[in-house]
Amino acid sequence: MTEFAWKKIGLGTDIPLRGARRLCFGHEGHPIAIFRTGANTYFALIDECPHRAGPLSEGIIAGETVTCPLHNWVIELDSGKAAAPDEGHTRALPVRFEDGEIYVGLPVRETV
Ligand code: FES
Repeated sequence: MTEFAWKKIGLGTDIPLRGARRLCFGHEGHPIAIFRTGANTYFALIDECPHRAGPLSEGIIAGETVTCPLHNWVIELDSGKAAAPDEGHTRALPVRFEDGEIYVGLPVRETV
């Protein structure tokens, strides 16, 4: 089980549809990005492609996936998993809304 510290990011509308934003803070030395799909759904991932750590926040969002700008791996936004035939994953972080503001959950403790 994972406990999260919720950090306010800003207004959801500050991120364009089918756009992403890399945050000014990370998690354990890894960058975090928030993604907004064309259907107005938000996801957060560690902003490192599972292939060679490419910046997913600079990729193309289609549906609930993002295509890495470096070698075109397709990553699922909800899980951070690479779509087959590629393998690997980046960490997905939880997102929630309060009064139009986005919050991202940073893991503070994980127990088995
Ligand atoms: S670094 Fe993302 S596909 Fe290679």
